[in-house]
Amino acid sequence: MANPDISQAIGQAIAHYPYSDSALFFDAYTELTRPNLEGKVVIEVCCGTGALAGWLATTFPKTIIYGIDYWDVHIDAAKKKYQDLSNLHFRSGDALNLKDFADVSVDLVVGQATMHHLANHLPGAAREFSRVLKTGGRCAFIFEPLGHNPVIAAIRGVLNSRRQWIDESLLFLNALEAFGEPFTSYEVHYYNFLGYVAKLLPRNEALKWIPTTLRRMDQRLFKQWPGLRKHAANFNVFYVK
Ligand SMILES: C[S@@+](CC[C@H](N)C(=O)[O-])C[C@H]1O[C@@H](n2cnc3c(N)ncnc32)[C@H](O)[C@@H]1O
Repeated sequence: MANPDISQAIGQAIAHYPYSDSALFFDAYTELTRPNLEGKVVIEVCCGTGALAGWLATTFPKTIIYGIDYWDVHIDAAKKKYQDLSNLHFRSGDALNLKDFADVSVDLVVGQATMHHLANHLPGAAREFSRVLKTGGRCAFIFEPLGHNPVIAAIRGVLNSRRQWIDESLLFLNALEAFGEPFTSYEVHYYNFLGYVAKLLPRNEALKWIPTTLRRMDQRLFKQWPGLRKHAANFNVFYVK
C-alpha cells in the first residue's frame, strides 16, 4: 500500500495526463517510489523538459537526480524551469553513453516515453544502464507502446505518419526480454487494451468513469486470459540488476 502523502503527490504530478493513462502513470510513479528514493542517485534518460525528474527532485529533496536528453532546447527549458532545485542537474548528452557516471553508482535509471526512442539500440542501452546501476538498482521504462495488436499498431501508424514523428518504433515482448539480458529479473505491467478507446475522450471529469471502467475490464480480462496482455497498447517495465 503506497504512502498516502506520496499517493497525493503522485496524483498532483500526473493530473495533466489524459484519464485514459491515469492508471498507468499512477501505478508507475507508485512503483518507482516504492523503495524509498530519499538519499539515492537517479538518472532520468531522455528527460525532455524534465517533468518527471523535476517531480522526483521536489518530492525527494535529499535525492540527487540527473536529467539527460540530447536535445539542447529541452535541456535549456528544463534548467530554466527547475533552477531552484539544487538536487537536480540537467545535462545535454546521449542516453546511450553515460560517460560521466561511474560503474555501479546509480540506484535508478528511468525513462518515460523513452524506450521506443532507443528501439534500434536496445542491447547497448541495456549494457550501459546496467553498468551504472548498483546491484539491486532498477531500470524502469514507463508509458511505452506495444506493437502486438494489429489494430492498435495500424491506428498508431496512421497517427504517427500524420504528425511526422521521427522515431516512434513500437516495442515487442521479445525486445523487452532481450533487454533483460544484463539484469536479474524484470516485470511488465500492461495497460489500455479495451482502454485504448478511451484515448479518444477529452479530459473531462464527467467522462472519467469510462476509462476507469475500461481499466477494470482490462484487468479482469488480463487475469482470466493472460495471453491478451500483449495486445495492450501500453506498458511499464521494471528491470532489477
Ligand atoms: C517522447 S520524448 C519524452 C520526453 C520526456 N521523457 C517526457 O516524458 O515528456 C523523447 C525524448 O527522448 C529524447 N531522446 C531520444 N533519443 C535519445 C538519446 N539517445 N539520448 C538522449 N535523448 C534522447 C528526445 O530528444 C526527446 O526529448
